[in-house]
Amino acid sequence: MPALTYLGHSAFLLEDAAQTVAIDPFLTGNPTASTTADAIAPDTILLTHAHNDHVGDTVAIAKRTGAKVIATFELGTWLEGQGVAGATPANHGGTVAFPGGTVKLTPAWHTSSYEHEGSFVAPGIPAGLVVRFGGKTVYFAGDTCLFGDMALIGEEGLDVAVVPIGDHFTMGLEDAARAIGLLKPKIAIPCHFNTFAPIRQDPAEFKRLVEEHTAATGVILAPGQRHEF
Ligand code: NI
Ligand code: MN
Repeated sequence: MPALTYLGHSAFLLEDAAQTVAIDPFLTGNPTASTTADAIAPDTILLTHAHNDHVGDTVAIAKRTGAKVIATFELGTWLEGQGVAGATPANHGGTVAFPGGTVKLTPAWHTSSYEHEGSFVAPGIPAGLVVRFGGKTVYFAGDTCLFGDMALIGEEGLDVAVVPIGDHFTMGLEDAARAIGLLKPKIAIPCHFNTFAPIRQDPAEFKRLVEEHTAATGVILAPGQRHEF
């Protein structure tokens, strides 16, 4: 049975008995982080986009563990240039295998840049991730607004959808609940809130909207909390 552990902001670990997958491992400098970069040892790292609050500690973790790092083309190529031997540039619509599962990159409406030593590098565009792992399908929306093609992503048959609710940089509560209506997962998990002042939100209101307007169950994870599904 796979388990999803929330590490704070948009960082998660997806694990089964054999494999650990980290998603957007922003831990250093994350005021809500429940662990540190040194304390996790993923076999695979999946990235939604280049923003520093998503790439986070990827380079250090990947160099230490040899993890395979799957990202959109420009970010993956930039990571290769940083000495990440397992960097795997991919792009929207493509499905890429990793030990224990696969990921399909989907569109996301957002921007994507990485601030490195005072300038922006690693442009390209952002993605969402449809992850098949441990017999389950989990969608990580990444940072995005609401968009109608989420209905197509819902046709993948989602056990879990992880969506941002913080507003300001992404969907807010009401659009995130509408997204769940299109995605039709069994479980809806909010992220990307309460890390910084502009994205302060009440996840209980998201859960209420989801359960009032969709068939999904809202599951609010505190940083460090693990959910088996
Ligand atoms: Ni972002
Ligand atoms: Mn973000």
